[in-house]
Amino acid sequence: MLNVGIASASPVEVGTALLIVALPENPTLSGIAGLDTATQGAVSRSFEMKDFRGSRDEMLHLTGLPKGPRRILLVGMGAIADRRASLRRAATLAARNAHRLGVGELVWYSDQLSPEEIEAITVGLIAGCWEYPDLKSPVPEAERKKPLEKATILATSTDDSRRGLANGQAIGSGHSLARRLAMMPGNLCTPDFLAQTASEIAKRYGMGITTLGRKELEAERMGSFLAVAQGTPQDPKLIALEYKGTKPTSKPVVLVGKGLCFDSGGISIKPAQGMEFMKFDMCGAAGVLGTFEALGQLKPEVNVVGIVGATTNMPSGTAMNPGDVVKASNGKSIEIINTDAEGRLVLADCLSYAKRFNPDVVIDAATLTGACVIALGHTASGVFSADDALIAEILAAGKRAGEPAWPLPLWDEYKDLIKSDVADVKNSGGRPAGAVTAAMFLREFAEGYTWAHMDIAGTAYSETDLVTIPKGPTGVPTGTFIEFVRGRIV
Ligand code: BES
Ligand code: MN
Ligand code: ZN
Repeated sequence: MLNVGIASASPVEVGTALLIVALPENPTLSGIAGLDTATQGAVSRSFEMKDFRGSRDEMLHLTGLPKGPRRILLVGMGAIADRRASLRRAATLAARNAHRLGVGELVWYSDQLSPEEIEAITVGLIAGCWEYPDLKSPVPEAERKKPLEKATILATSTDDSRRGLANGQAIGSGHSLARRLAMMPGNLCTPDFLAQTASEIAKRYGMGITTLGRKELEAERMGSFLAVAQGTPQDPKLIALEYKGTKPTSKPVVLVGKGLCFDSGGISIKPAQGMEFMKFDMCGAAGVLGTFEALGQLKPEVNVVGIVGATTNMPSGTAMNPGDVVKASNGKSIEIINTDAEGRLVLADCLSYAKRFNPDVVIDAATLTGACVIALGHTASGVFSADDALIAEILAAGKRAGEPAWPLPLWDEYKDLIKSDVADVKNSGGRPAGAVTAAMFLREFAEGYTWAHMDIAGTAYSETDLVTIPKGPTGVPTGTFIEFVRGRIV
C-alpha cells in the first residue's frame, strides 16, 4: 500500500518529482502566490487563459522548477459543497495519474488542511493507486514504470494532523483489503481463504473469532445456508469476528456480509455473458473484513461484531432444486423458487445467528439483486429498514464516506409477493419490486433487534472504467460501515 506522510515545507521549495496542487472552481492565487512567482506566472496565466478553471476532475500539467517541484499538476475540485469529499476525489484522481506517469513519489499541496481533510486526502491517495497486480507477469525492466510508492502531504505536523494521517491510513488499508479480496478470482478467494483472512485480522489486532464449517452449520440447524452450500464440495464458512472497543456491557453494532465467492445461479443457472462478474458476489463480506482491518487500527470505543456467510452457488447433482423446501435456524420454512436467489438464503441464517450477540443494531450488506441495479443504477446503494432514524444514520455515514445510498420501501404491502403455497415464505417474488421482496424476505429472519439491509449490487463493483476507479471493485460498503461505527462513538 502507498506510504503517505506529512511534512511542513513550502510548495515552492519541496523537492519532488510531482507537486499536486488541488484548487476549487474559479481559482485564485491565495496560498499559491509564491508558486506563481517561482514559475514566472505560469499558474496565473493558466487561469487567465482558461487553460485551467478548477472544474471537477480537470487536470493541467505545468512545467516545474529546476530545483524544488520538477513537475506540477493542477487538479480541479469544482464547486465545493463538502471540502473533504472534493479533496478525496481530487486525491484519488491525482494518485491514479501519478501512478500511470510512473513518477514514483508525489507531494500534495492544498491550502489550510484540517485533520479530517488530511484523512480524506490520505484515503483518496491510497484508493487512487490501488491495483491488483498479483496474477500478472511482471513487465520487463526496461518498460517498467515506477509505481507510486510514496506521497507527502504538506501540512504543519501537529498531533492532530498526524492523527488525521493515521486514520486515513487505517481506512485506506481497510478499503484496499476489501478491494483486493473482491478482485481475487473465485478459485483463490474461497470460503476457506476468507476464513483465513479473518483469522489473520483477529490475530493481528487481538479480536475474537468463531468459524463454523458445514458440520457446525448442521449442528446449528442452518438449513437455509446449507441449502446453498450443498451444491459445492468446498466447506462453507460462517465467520464471526468480535472487536471489543469499549466496556463489555455496551451492546455491539453487528455488520453482516454476503460472501458468495462465486454465484453461478445454481440449477437456475445464469447466462454465460458476464457470469465472471459473479466473483464479486462477496463484496458485502469483503466490506466486513475491510472494516475490521480498519477498526483494528482506528480502535474506536465501540463494540462491533462482523459476520460473514461464505460459500459458492453451484449447479451439481447435490445442489438444491427449485421447489425444494428447507428450514432456517429460526424455524421458518422456505420454498426455493429460484436457486439464483441464494444470497438471501445464506443471509437468513447469518441474521438469525446475529441475535446471540445481543446487538444494538444489525446492518447487512449484500450484492443481492439485479433489481436494485435497475432501480438505483451504479450511483447509490439501496437501504431498507423499518427504522427511519437508522436509515438517516446510514445515509449520513455513506455520505461521509463518499458512498451514496438511498432508501427503498420495506412495507407490509409487499409481503404477499413472497407468500408460498407450501412453506412460510418463498425465496423469490419474481420481477416486480425485486429489491424490495429480497429485503422483505430477509426481514423474516432479522428478528429481535433493530436492523437495516443495504443492497450493494450496483455499487460494489464496476464493469467499466470510471474516472476515479478502474473497472473492478469500488470498496463499497467498507467506507459506510467504518463511518457508521465511528458515528456510534459515545
Ligand atoms: N448476486 C446476484 C445479484 C446481482 C446481480 C449482483 C447483478 C450483482 C449484479 C443474486 O444472487 C441474484 O442472482 N439475484 C437474482 C434474484 C432473483 C432470482 C429473484 C436477480 O437479481 O436476478
Ligand atoms: Mn444469485
Ligand atoms: Zn448472488
